[in-house]
Amino acid sequence: MCGIVGYIGKDQAAPILLDGLTKLEYRGYDSAGVAVFDGEAIKMVKAKGKIDNLKSRCNNGESLKGTQGIGHTRWATHGEPSDLNAHPHMNAKETLSVVHNGIIENFLELKEKLQKRGYTFLSDTDTEVIVQLLDFYYKGDILSALVETLRRVEGSYSLGILDADDSEHIYAAKKDSPLIIGISESGNFVASDIPAILKYTDKVIILEDNEIVRLSRDSVEIFNMDLEPVDKEIMTIDWDISAAEKGGYEHFMMKEIHEQPKAIRDCISPRIKDSEIMLHELRLTEDEIKDLKKVNIIACGSAYHAGCVGKYVLEECARIPTEVFLASEFRYSDPVVDEGTLAIIISQSGETADTKAAMKEAKRLGARTFAIVNAVGSSIARESDDVMYTWAGPEIAVATTKGYTTQVCSLYLLAMYMGKIRGTLPDESYAEMLKELLLLPEKIESILSEKEHIQYIANRFSGLKDVFFIGRNIDYSAALEASLKLKEISYVHSDAYAAGELKHGTISLIEKGTLVISLATQEKLYGKIVSNMIEVRARGAFVMAVTNEDNKAIEESSDYALYIPKTHHSFTAVLSVIPCQLFAYYVAVEKGCDVDKPRNLAKSVTVE
Ligand code: F6R
Repeated sequence: MCGIVGYIGKDQAAPILLDGLTKLEYRGYDSAGVAVFDGEAIKMVKAKGKIDNLKSRCNNGESLKGTQGIGHTRWATHGEPSDLNAHPHMNAKETLSVVHNGIIENFLELKEKLQKRGYTFLSDTDTEVIVQLLDFYYKGDILSALVETLRRVEGSYSLGILDADDSEHIYAAKKDSPLIIGISESGNFVASDIPAILKYTDKVIILEDNEIVRLSRDSVEIFNMDLEPVDKEIMTIDWDISAAEKGGYEHFMMKEIHEQPKAIRDCISPRIKDSEIMLHELRLTEDEIKDLKKVNIIACGSAYHAGCVGKYVLEECARIPTEVFLASEFRYSDPVVDEGTLAIIISQSGETADTKAAMKEAKRLGARTFAIVNAVGSSIARESDDVMYTWAGPEIAVATTKGYTTQVCSLYLLAMYMGKIRGTLPDESYAEMLKELLLLPEKIESILSEKEHIQYIANRFSGLKDVFFIGRNIDYSAALEASLKLKEISYVHSDAYAAGELKHGTISLIEKGTLVISLATQEKLYGKIVSNMIEVRARGAFVMAVTNEDNKAIEESSDYALYIPKTHHSFTAVLSVIPCQLFAYYVAVEKGCDVDKPRNLAKSVTVE
């Protein structure tokens, strides 16, 4: 995720900015840059890759004079990682400079309007519209120009701004993306995250949405969008640096579990305009979408599990036959693929060797490839015909959480989009699903608020050896992911079964005390899954059910019940997996496992 640092004070700004950016490296980034006002002009240095590249371009900041500046680490969303796309961005006169975290959803529309008025854009980023809009509205007063600009942009932002006409201040603003102010004797800071400034001060102000900040060397002023002053509390931070990097969480995995509402919002919201899904990323005409004969989904691990959910939704919404393949199997099979096949390639890292090779094979056989990828500019993103980014931000923990849920949400968007075009998803269902899709982030928030209850149950079961997850339909797909989460981080043996398969062999493994976790969110199949729960309970198993909040009757056939908010039946996979991620996490912590770096596993599997 991108990082912001800004400073105005008594000391040379650039070394402080570079030091702050280094503290934000753990968040992941692919380019970095700084801009400093030296009293006469804004000097900017940017570099693709590591902060060391940036440091060597400015002699560790020494070659940039001046005591006010802004810096940024960029995780690419719009436009590849490159020197040009790195932040800061400037207006043509080089009098204004901006760093930005977040996504400007209406940037294309704004860009077109500005281009008609003669503005030229140098980068592919959404951020550049902010600096150009600021320039457009600037009439000698940056605060008024900023308000005008913010009233026109849609989406999320935290901003740091330098104005060459103002040697006394730097500026900042925020909406739906974190930003804090740091206060010290030798100057004031703005940052996207506390670690960036913790070395210099422990006094911070946490900014709320729609707040605008003017920082001088010895004052902090905060305004609302009507430019009326706002009073804020100054907090003292007592975290050490490693707790600060994890946002106060003990592990990155827990932090990333909690980032899911935001990640899903970032994935979905920019793609919905006026109650319609806009998937410009799938560059097929409506006729081509109608003519598709089948879909092959190809992926590994959790991404494959996301694909398993996708199969149900694509078949239901778009009535298109869909097969899901493990990439390592697909590449060595002799798949029936042709020009009528859409191959959906799913990968968080975009670098997984098997997935990459399978995509090549699908292409060679004539399929159109559509990649769902998190890492912008990664190999799979570059080599696929089309790419849809999940915009989950970087994942540090080896076990994926937000990577998986945003992949599933991307497939929801794709299935509904294709269903609408193919005429297989009635308008009423489309509207209902869209409404429910947008509610998923807040429903996840409500599940997360119940985490102590899950911790209590997990602690009770942390000594167990075997766990079975069961489910039917989409619940089976979610069970595959839930089971993988548990085994990979807690080293507890765990397997997922289609509940109807129990009788065909697996039930012989059930003995007194075995834990069976039953995902039971599909209303039309409640009766069936409850029968399976009764069967395993009769053989001594403990049953924990994950079900919808209105299904209290499940308590009669389970020992523990965890509830998720009611949603559309296709969307439960994103909700039911959350308590399972938490369960896996708490079991692993209780067992003393290295949650963020489980043994023998790597985040990016770049070899076969
Ligand atoms: C499990 C996990 C892995 C990945 C798999 C594919 O928590 O993270 O199973 O899902 O290695 O990785 P990507 O999505 O990067 O292709």
